[in-house]
Amino acid sequence: MPPDDVRALLARAVQRLKEAGCGTPDLDARLLFQAATGLSREDIILDPGRTIPAGEIGQFEAAIMRRMEREPVSRILGEREFYGRCFRVTPATLDPRPDTETLVEAALALMPAKARLLDLGTGTGAIAVTLLAERPDATAVATDLSQEALGVARENAERAGVAQRLHLIHGSWFAPVTAVFDIIVSNPPYIPSGDIAGLSPDVRNFDPALALAGGDDGLDPYRAIAPHAASHLAAEGHVLVEIGAGQAEQVEAIFAASGFSMVERHEDLGGHVRCLAFRRPSGQPEK
Ligand SMILES: C[S@@+](CC[C@H](N)C(=O)[O-])C[C@H]1O[C@@H](n2cnc3c(N)ncnc32)[C@H](O)[C@@H]1O
Repeated sequence: MPPDDVRALLARAVQRLKEAGCGTPDLDARLLFQAATGLSREDIILDPGRTIPAGEIGQFEAAIMRRMEREPVSRILGEREFYGRCFRVTPATLDPRPDTETLVEAALALMPAKARLLDLGTGTGAIAVTLLAERPDATAVATDLSQEALGVARENAERAGVAQRLHLIHGSWFAPVTAVFDIIVSNPPYIPSGDIAGLSPDVRNFDPALALAGGDDGLDPYRAIAPHAASHLAAEGHVLVEIGAGQAEQVEAIFAASGFSMVERHEDLGGHVRCLAFRRPSGQPEK
């Protein structure tokens, strides 16, 4: 029988994850091990010879098998950290990405006091819930075409203590929205449909298609959002969108066609322009 102490269990799991093509086998194995055993990182380092009970080994084994099928760790655990808070993630929601924190930072800098915020395509609620948690005087409306995702966003809002300030609405982009806002944010699906098959299995097989596919060139959601944004923005309002790598100029042109001037471009940690901010065109009537 191979030993069932911390060191041996982790070493075998790391080896199997490497063979399965996982990019971060050490980190993944440790996170899944900690979840199965309840041990901390310090416990693992300080007591590598500790014997693990059979039930916990079984849970760890089941988690490793899922990761070998390339299911992301956040989906196996059912939660992911975003901007320092824990968000529930389900098969109905995109797994929020660290890149989206770029948009959060940009929105925080543009939010006035008592900001009224609209988040289009909220998913787990990562953006809206984070902005409400960071700005206790703000209120928000968030929409999604997925009713199940809205249920997850509700849970995440409750967990973060901001549910009283968040109104969730089911529908496509602006269709169910009547109010006017200071800031409109969106991280829409922006992958060209033909590129989805070539994505890593961690993404392709686990993020919902509704959260990924943005039409033939990936830009359909921007074409749907831009023409309606100005009439839902207050006079000094801004719209901020996340974009895919290399889409900046095309998205800028789509918003320019609706009278918006781009005021800011923000890069993610990988050096890609990830977020564009536009100012409301002057002279257009509010709703
Ligand atoms: C890329 S995900 C972003 C989720 C979340 N905002 C985040 O940043 O993690 C895009 C979201 O848009 C939603 N969506 C797709 N088409 C939509 C539409 N026509 N109207 C509203 N939401 C839509 C998807 O269900 C998904 O939750």
